[in-house]
Amino acid sequence: MTTSTEDHTSLVSGYLQHIADQCAADDSGRVADYIPELAAVDPGRYGLSLCAHDGYIYSVGDTATEFTIQSISKPLTYAMALGGHGADAVDAKIGVEPSGEAFNEISVDARRRPRNPMINAGAITAASMLLPSERQVAPETVEAAFAGLVDFYSACAGRRLVVDEQVYRSERATGSRNRAIAYMLDSFGALTTDPDAALDLYFRQCSLRVTTEDLAVIGVTIACGGTNPRTGRRVFSRSTAQRLLSVMTTCGMYDGAGDWVTSVGIPAKSGVGGGILGSLPGQLGIGVFSPRLDAHGNSVRGVDTCRHLSADLGLHMF
Ligand code: DON
Repeated sequence: MTTSTEDHTSLVSGYLQHIADQCAADDSGRVADYIPELAAVDPGRYGLSLCAHDGYIYSVGDTATEFTIQSISKPLTYAMALGGHGADAVDAKIGVEPSGEAFNEISVDARRRPRNPMINAGAITAASMLLPSERQVAPETVEAAFAGLVDFYSACAGRRLVVDEQVYRSERATGSRNRAIAYMLDSFGALTTDPDAALDLYFRQCSLRVTTEDLAVIGVTIACGGTNPRTGRRVFSRSTAQRLLSVMTTCGMYDGAGDWVTSVGIPAKSGVGGGILGSLPGQLGIGVFSPRLDAHGNSVRGVDTCRHLSADLGLHMF
């Protein structure tokens, strides 16, 4: 017996709904409140989207709800730095080793490089590489760099992304920890540009709004070697995609990374907005959203969802 596309879609949707129901029962964890605007979200929200390598999207739950991308921006800005400067120049500034520490630690190695691009220190350094090497960067120059960044992220998502101005202002107003990180890096000579300009770019990139469908499409674009299968557009090179998948595997879930690789085995990146992006090489992009976070800063229901998907569908890479 053959199955029609419609039957197949309703079969997958039924399965995703089953996962959503199972995960919705868990109301543990806490919404991030260290940035006041993040505390304003509805903690009960849940959305899940998968995008297959042919570009087909399957979704359940609050998949039209927008939330801020937060740290899920980090692989994309790293991709831009790699595309703009080449791997050797980026490696000279940012390591690729897991830090084993929280995302906002000033984790640097013996060469005083941030340990990897998935923690704040590495992400601020990657953002600095998108700016000119000047001690004082004019606001218009940051604006122009941000416009380029939005174009790049939007090409990955296959639709125009916009910034959440309130979250951006909230990030900027309460960003002492990130300022401390940027100024410490600057004192080491790790940044080639104005630390305030790098921070501004970083705060803005974290404040872009996405849906779970956007995350699933970005995930599949990475999984498909840098080509967005929904638009057919090549956004970054295959070697950059390979890099992203590697650092997402080892460092994407912070100090929870080892447990994640063992139990889920899908390259991923989380954000304190409650999103998780998964990217299974050659196969699938995953976007899941639920704002309550565990002690590592990862979405509780999001992690649980990915565990179920991996076990039920045999998605573990190894
Ligand atoms: O405080 C920051 O740097 C955030 N705006 C982004 C942090 C984040 O999403 C960490 N991820 N789990």
